[in-house]
Amino acid sequence: MASIKYLNLLLYSLLVAITMSCNIVKNESSDQTVFDMQAHRGGRGLMPENTIEAMLDAIDRGVYTLELDLQISKDKQVIVSHDPYFNEKITTTYDGTYLTKKESRKTLLYKMTYAEIQKYDIGQKTNPDFPRKKNIQAHVPLLSELIREAEKYAKGKNMVMHYNIEIKATEKGDYVEHPPIDEFVDLALKTIKTNNISERTIIQSFDVRVLRLLHNKYPTMKTSYLVNYKEKKPVSKLIDLLGFTPNIYSPDYRHITDELVSYCHSRNIKVIPWTVNDIETMNRLRLMKVDGVITDYPDLFEQL
Ligand code: G3P
Ligand code: CA
Repeated sequence: MASIKYLNLLLYSLLVAITMSCNIVKNESSDQTVFDMQAHRGGRGLMPENTIEAMLDAIDRGVYTLELDLQISKDKQVIVSHDPYFNEKITTTYDGTYLTKKESRKTLLYKMTYAEIQKYDIGQKTNPDFPRKKNIQAHVPLLSELIREAEKYAKGKNMVMHYNIEIKATEKGDYVEHPPIDEFVDLALKTIKTNNISERTIIQSFDVRVLRLLHNKYPTMKTSYLVNYKEKKPVSKLIDLLGFTPNIYSPDYRHITDELVSYCHSRNIKVIPWTVNDIETMNRLRLMKVDGVITDYPDLFEQL
């Protein structure tokens, strides 16, 4: 009796493993039904965040989507950076010194030309938050440069890359940390279109103004609604307030429930939580049928 029970359990486990591995594919196609493995800032747990070096490493690891953040320089170049300033945790200045937190907040990228920005190193400094990160020289890239390098590298490996590009805007930041959002969006979209990646790109933002603008002005672009852990409103309310249906709902992973996933799927919205940094949580979320995950550690995908 007991052995039949164990045999059934074994068969069930095998079935779950086979079912789950079916949609885990290394990046070899542009099939949108695959489980979307996204490298957060290119995989900041392993490589300097938001750099070309990180993106190429993530491509080597077979990720499906490169996640990255945008800022705008004083001379209106579209650059790749999470913070609107040089974060003291990752920056070495051009004379080899480090910034204090107070100094770092004064280095607003929107007040610097790209020629100035390029002189700072954002790869060499040890970051205690990410002890496995490689410490190598790296600079803040232009979006155009990053796309070009990633596309060339992926092509050489017969891979097709996807991009999850965040417009880092806030109402408070308008004119101070970035241009007004219509200009920000136009600059970003121009680079994306010129580099022929529009169909493989998702534009994400926490700023609902940006999402609404995209929906109205660039209706063919895929949008992803980012939601912070502190947000208390339910997904149904947030989508109603947004005023249109985004392609993706992308909350802090601690928000994920069976109900949330069912609700989104019933409205044809994919669910891609962030930032999932351990394999147990990744597997639990996959069993809850999320459509992908965003991680700082793209090497975890090897264990899926
Ligand atoms: O893609 C989701 C995630 O990138 C949002 O968080 O602050 O790392 O940009 P953040
Ligand atoms: Ca981001």
